[in-house]
Amino acid sequence: MNFEELYKNKQPATRVLAMPTDTNPMGDVFGGWIMSQVDIAGSIVAHHKAKGRVVTVAVTDFLFKKPVFVGDLISCFGEIEKTGRTSITVKVTVCAERNRNPEELIKVTEATLVYVAVDDDGQPYEFPKD
Ligand SMILES: CC(C)(COP(=O)(O)OP(=O)(O)OC[C@H]1O[C@@H](n2cnc3c(N)ncnc32)[C@H](O)[C@@H]1OP(=O)(O)O)[C@@H](O)C(=O)NCCC(=O)NCCS
Repeated sequence: MNFEELYKNKQPATRVLAMPTDTNPMGDVFGGWIMSQVDIAGSIVAHHKAKGRVVTVAVTDFLFKKPVFVGDLISCFGEIEKTGRTSITVKVTVCAERNRNPEELIKVTEATLVYVAVDDDGQPYEFPKD
């Protein structure tokens, strides 16, 4: 599914407005802020799958394809790529709606993150499979 279809048909894990406080000293939206949004979205998807606590163990791929600007409405879509014994790999696609116009939709970031289901002591545990 391309990102326009994704945007029309799927529920994002998160949706947030890029604010002036999210910029670097040059006034551009800070990559670390986008990374944080991606991690939050991926963890929501992984948490649903694990039905419990997860931690991020690895970011295996991260591409800032296009810049994000203040005022962009950012939607993060998460899709499970793979599950293991304790791990869940999530691909996150980030779309920006520019000028609050759904016709101005830009795929800004793509990333792949690995989460691990952990117990109350922070130790990996085998999460129940559907
Ligand atoms: C995540 C953590 C609990 C894993 O503990 P561990 O003893 O290394 O666990 P394991 O070696 O058994 O690995 C657990 C799973 O992670 C996967 N994994 C570990 N390192 C990985 C890596 N670099 N890339 C991809 N997957 C990895 C393993 O393949 C395994 O998956 P599987 O059970 O589905 O086969 C531990 O490393 C940790 O606490 N890390 C800090 C997490 C953190 O603070 N994250 C940031 C804030 S959320």
